[in-house]
Amino acid sequence: MPEIADNGRTWLLSGPTSSYALHLTETDELVHLHWGPGIALADAEALAALPPSERGASFESPLDGREEYPVEGGPRFVRPALSVRTDERRGTEWSYEDFEADADGLRLRFRDAGLAVTLHYRMRGDVVERWTTLRNDGEGPLELLRADSATWTLPERDDWRLSQLHGRWAAESRLTRSPLTYGEQVIGSRRGHTGHQHLPWVALDTDATEERGEVYGCALGWSGTWRIAVAQLPDARVQITGGVGYDDSGLLRLAPGESFTTPVFAGLWSDAGFGGASRAWHAYQRTYVVPDAEQDRPVLFNSWEATYFDISEEQQGTLARRAAAIGVELFVVDDGWFGARTGDHAGLGDWRPNPDRFPNGLKPLADQVHDLGMQFGIWVEPEMVNPDSELYRAHPDWVQFQSGRKRTEFRNQLVLNLAREDVQEYLWEQLHGLLSSAPVDYVKWDFNRCFTDAGWPDDPYPQRLWVDHVRALYSLLDRLRAAHPGVAFESCSGGGGRIDLGIMSRTDQVWTSDNTDPLDRLDIQHGFSQIHPARVMAAWVTDSPNAQLNGRVSSLRFRFVSAMAGVLGVGGDLSQWSEEELVEARRWVELYKEIRPLVQRGDLYRLRPPAGGLGALQYVRGDESVVLAWLQAQRFGEPVPALRLHGLDPTASYECRETGEVHRGAVLLHHGLRTGLRGDLDATVIRLRRI
Ligand code: DGJ
Repeated sequence: MPEIADNGRTWLLSGPTSSYALHLTETDELVHLHWGPGIALADAEALAALPPSERGASFESPLDGREEYPVEGGPRFVRPALSVRTDERRGTEWSYEDFEADADGLRLRFRDAGLAVTLHYRMRGDVVERWTTLRNDGEGPLELLRADSATWTLPERDDWRLSQLHGRWAAESRLTRSPLTYGEQVIGSRRGHTGHQHLPWVALDTDATEERGEVYGCALGWSGTWRIAVAQLPDARVQITGGVGYDDSGLLRLAPGESFTTPVFAGLWSDAGFGGASRAWHAYQRTYVVPDAEQDRPVLFNSWEATYFDISEEQQGTLARRAAAIGVELFVVDDGWFGARTGDHAGLGDWRPNPDRFPNGLKPLADQVHDLGMQFGIWVEPEMVNPDSELYRAHPDWVQFQSGRKRTEFRNQLVLNLAREDVQEYLWEQLHGLLSSAPVDYVKWDFNRCFTDAGWPDDPYPQRLWVDHVRALYSLLDRLRAAHPGVAFESCSGGGGRIDLGIMSRTDQVWTSDNTDPLDRLDIQHGFSQIHPARVMAAWVTDSPNAQLNGRVSSLRFRFVSAMAGVLGVGGDLSQWSEEELVEARRWVELYKEIRPLVQRGDLYRLRPPAGGLGALQYVRGDESVVLAWLQAQRFGEPVPALRLHGLDPTASYECRETGEVHRGAVLLHHGLRTGLRGDLDATVIRLRRI
């Protein structure tokens, strides 16, 4: 419940360790007061009473860098969070109406001619969730050119540093840190999906280390085009503004009475370093974002790298028997089971089993998989169509296109215009029918190309399809989840192209990357773990040499320990694995099942980043802990450093399940644990239990 000053103009929201405060000045400007360690309402009031710092003469804005939600217009030069236009005017000159505060948070209402704005604040642990609602209260149309979810203001400090997760296909979520300089750093996607290029997250610190120091983080819950701009203003103030859309050229047109609710832009302050910030993000997502996060995810087999498009019922049955024998719990048939989909040139859009490959539909294979004691899953890519498909031949106007322009194909496919109600209904019927026709427990939902020709010739405001595509995707997923409550969903977009808090609130796990090389994966997983929990991070053991990317040869041990850091899966061609390999795989799967509650629900400590040659993670849950460690290459016969552990009781003793040795907690914390790793591409799992 927010605390409110007697004058009703200063508000304080607090989590277990942090506080957030804002204030409405006597002239009704909404200014930021505090985001950081927990403070009392009296502290917030003292901050509100401080005079604003002097600004330089007539060339500086008295508001820039102080406002909670800078609108366009008036004495402001910062990037506006809100930009609207009507037939009469552009920009906003709002006045304060009132507020509501209850257990669900704080809502502040403002009004301009024809526009009602509500700013929402809600604490979820130490995460502040912020979003904005905009309603057209006027008589005529109102266009939202830009409507960010929130603007965050950081305290005045010297030398801010920016962390971000950048990448591309097969190389997602790689962490970089760089000094923030004057001006703006802008990340985002103009591709129609979240994108492989940046996760919608930034973190700012001045001198944090992995386990110490202040870290501010912001993450956006939107799976389409987006933008986060981090600005260091002329007086060194830093503001972060973010929301839907990349450009400011128009999001939506609101008819009288219509409203738009932005997605959540979540912010987290932590003084426990990058590791502490990650653990707080993980706990937030497991508690408030990811569905059924208290349920551990099963070990899956996925057919993609084993059989690519060349699949049949009999061959998948053979793989299923081998998968079951090594302890797999969920068998997923990837691309190639439907329509004329014998390669990437045809079939997308025709969501019926290919009669040559599955003469009696999917049910016989699903039954066989169930008889083997596993769940059954399938791959779909509903938002796409191949021009060579029955769907496209019947409805060539159902795709995004511009009149008289060419339709750009990537991977021989076009993007369906999901903003159209007939397309939404078609997809609902196809997918609902599919999930009703066979006992399907799991759907891998893929998205393999970006928007290029995002036009809609028949619509008076075609650019709305950027936002409406995502809204339609979300409502389709919500509808399917409600109608088929037992079915779990995976978000995939050519690997990690659609990973964000928005999609995670309606899917059960995500496909982290198409890069299944176990060494590259350590870096990708290191970046991913900055924000997202292991509970959603799917990771497969595939074949060696790595066929898809680099031909790297690695042991089954290294591949398994790499993939065991998330939701373990197997994606290799089991029909080619030797008897010894299958026996070894079974042992790893058994071990994973034992440590799974720690990995998927425990607290994660990143002991060493993988880039240094020796990478290690530790998971702690109750009296148990497990360490996963990887040595890339031992050089010059140097001894491999011991790993200083975290999260243990220094006064307790811990038994190592691997060696039977007993270690003192204080020794593990201050002097470290020896791993026994040596040579190249070595890896180990070390389980510890308090005694
Ligand atoms: C891209 C995904 O990331 C892969 O795992 C696989 O599902 C292919 N698409 C199938 O086309």
